[in-house]
Amino acid sequence: MVLDECFQVSGDLCKIINNISILREQTESQSLSFGRGQQIMDKQNVPVITLDGPSASGKGTIARLVSQALGFHYLDSGALYRLVALAAMKRNTDVSDEHSMVDIARHLNVSFRDSSIWLEGKDVSDEVRAEACGEYASRIAQYSALRVELLGYQRDFRKSPGLVTDGRDMGSVIFPDATLKIYLTASEEERALRRHKQLMEKGINASIADLIQALRARDERDSSRSTSPLQQCEDACLLDTTGLSIDQVVSRVLNMYAEARKA
Ligand code: DC
Repeated sequence: MVLDECFQVSGDLCKIINNISILREQTESQSLSFGRGQQIMDKQNVPVITLDGPSASGKGTIARLVSQALGFHYLDSGALYRLVALAAMKRNTDVSDEHSMVDIARHLNVSFRDSSIWLEGKDVSDEVRAEACGEYASRIAQYSALRVELLGYQRDFRKSPGLVTDGRDMGSVIFPDATLKIYLTASEEERALRRHKQLMEKGINASIADLIQALRARDERDSSRSTSPLQQCEDACLLDTTGLSIDQVVSRVLNMYAEARKA
């Protein structure tokens, strides 16, 4: 996801990934123990790790690395809202028309291939990450009918041996029985700096002050909507990534997961 470039990755990450392979082996043997010949594990038994939090908190980067370390599937739920918004923009459809957004979502032809995202047979990985797309995604995410439309699609990502997912309502609404729920955040300044670094790397100029304003506005909208607002649910663990490197955060999440599995 976009924030991949926003953190400093140190060599320690390799060490962490090595340690994690132990966890991964345990997970694989655990899934085998559910019964030979049993092809499909009951979805409720498939472990899920949810990472919810505000924009630019690093959810996508961390969720992807944790999923790779554990050999789990990964769902970037924000990409779904972004894809509906992008499809609407491409068709010149009015994003204030809730019914049309639901219709677009219902017939959306998307695929996730490794780290690329495809819409109607075209690689839209960069387009979907554009600021404008995130802004429209946040607006249409307020429509409850659209959220209902995307619910089953998201739950279908829950497959053996496990799922790591990031978004705003993953722990509160989509996977309320998740094994581990994390509310990932960072200071406003640090989130704006990460977004700034990411934009600069793409050759896009932006002022930190403007970015703080934009993040604030988006978080305010995502947190104050009536349907599935961004919130730290009671059973979610708070993880503040301010001042932490990627490998430190990944390592903490994996330790938290190891603890959660023991419980
Ligand atoms: O995580 P992101 O920036 O890609 O998400 C884009 C927008 O989509 C975000 O501002 C709010 C919305 N969203 C949501 O409402 N629920 C989710 N689970 C994920 C994203």
